Amino acid sequence: MINFFKKKKQEAEKKNEIHPFDKLDEIPAHVAIIMDGNGRWAQKKLLPRIAGHKEGMNTVKKITKRSSQIGIKVLTLYAFSTENWRRPDPEVNFLMQLPVDFFDAFVPDLIKENIKVQVIGFTDQLPAHTQKAVMQAIEDTKNNTGMILNFALNYGSRSEMIEATKQIAKMVKDNRLDSEEIDETIFESHLMTASLGDYQEVDFMIRTSGEERMSNFLLWQNAYSEFYFTKELWPDFNEQSLENAVSVYQKRHRRFGAL
Ligand code: IPE
Ligand code: IPE
Ligand code: MG
Repeated sequence: MINFFKKKKQEAEKKNEIHPFDKLDEIPAHVAIIMDGNGRWAQKKLLPRIAGHKEGMNTVKKITKRSSQIGIKVLTLYAFSTENWRRPDPEVNFLMQLPVDFFDAFVPDLIKENIKVQVIGFTDQLPAHTQKAVMQAIEDTKNNTGMILNFALNYGSRSEMIEATKQIAKMVKDNRLDSEEIDETIFESHLMTASLGDYQEVDFMIRTSGEERMSNFLLWQNAYSEFYFTKELWPDFNEQSLENAVSVYQKRHRRFGAL
C-alpha cells in the first residue's frame, strides 16, 4: 500500500518535473497575494520606486508559472488598490502601463501554460490603454482550462461589498427578490469574485514585505483563509519562497469553527 502511494507521488513528481510537497492533495486551491514592498526594494538599491515595480513584474511571471505547476487553481494578485490613486501621478501612470507591458511579453507563455486571465476591480475607471491590454489578455486566454490568474486591478473590498448591496437592494425594490431570501450565496453572487465559482473563497493569503494587514483586500472572501506574512519584499519573492509558504499552509489545521 505504501509503495502504491510512493509510486503515485513519483509519477506526480515526474509530471511536474519537481514537486516539493509530501501532501499532494493539500495544495491550497485559491491563493491570494498582496504583492507588497516594491518601493522599499528599489529604495534599498538607491533606485527610483518604479524600478521596484518593474522588477516585481518579473516576480509575477515566476510565481504564476510555479503556482500553475504545483496545482493551484486560482491565483489572485493584488496589483492596484482603490487607495493607490493617492500616490504621485508619475508612479500611478507607471503602474497603469505595467499591465500593457506584462501582457505584451507574457501572453504567449500563459497560453503555453494553459493559464486563463481574469480580473476583479473597478476596471472601467482605468485608463483606456490599461483596459484594452487587460481585455485583450482575457480574450486571448479565454479557452484555457488550467489555473486562473486573477488580477485585482483598482480593487477595493469595501466598495465591492457596497456595490453588491446596491444591486441586491435594487432587486428587492423591483420585486425580483424577497429581502428574507438574502443569504450568503446570494450576496456572494454579486461580488466580483462570483466568476470564480467554487473557488471564490480564499484558502491561503500571502503578504510580502513584513506588513501585516489586509489593506482592503478580499475582506469577505478571506473569512476563513489562512494568513502568511513574510518579510521578503515582493521583487525578492521567488519559487522557493512560494513553496516554503505552501509547506507552512500544509501544516495548518483549518477548523472552520468546528473541532
Ligand atoms: C506594492 O509595492 C505594489 C503596489 C502597491 C502597487 P509598494 O509600492 O506598496 O511598495 P512599498 O510598500 O512602498 O515598499
Ligand atoms: C496594498 O499595498 C495594495 C497592493 C499591493 C496593490 P499598499 O502598499 O498599497 O498598502 P498599505 O498602504 O501599505 O496598506
Ligand atoms: Mg506598500
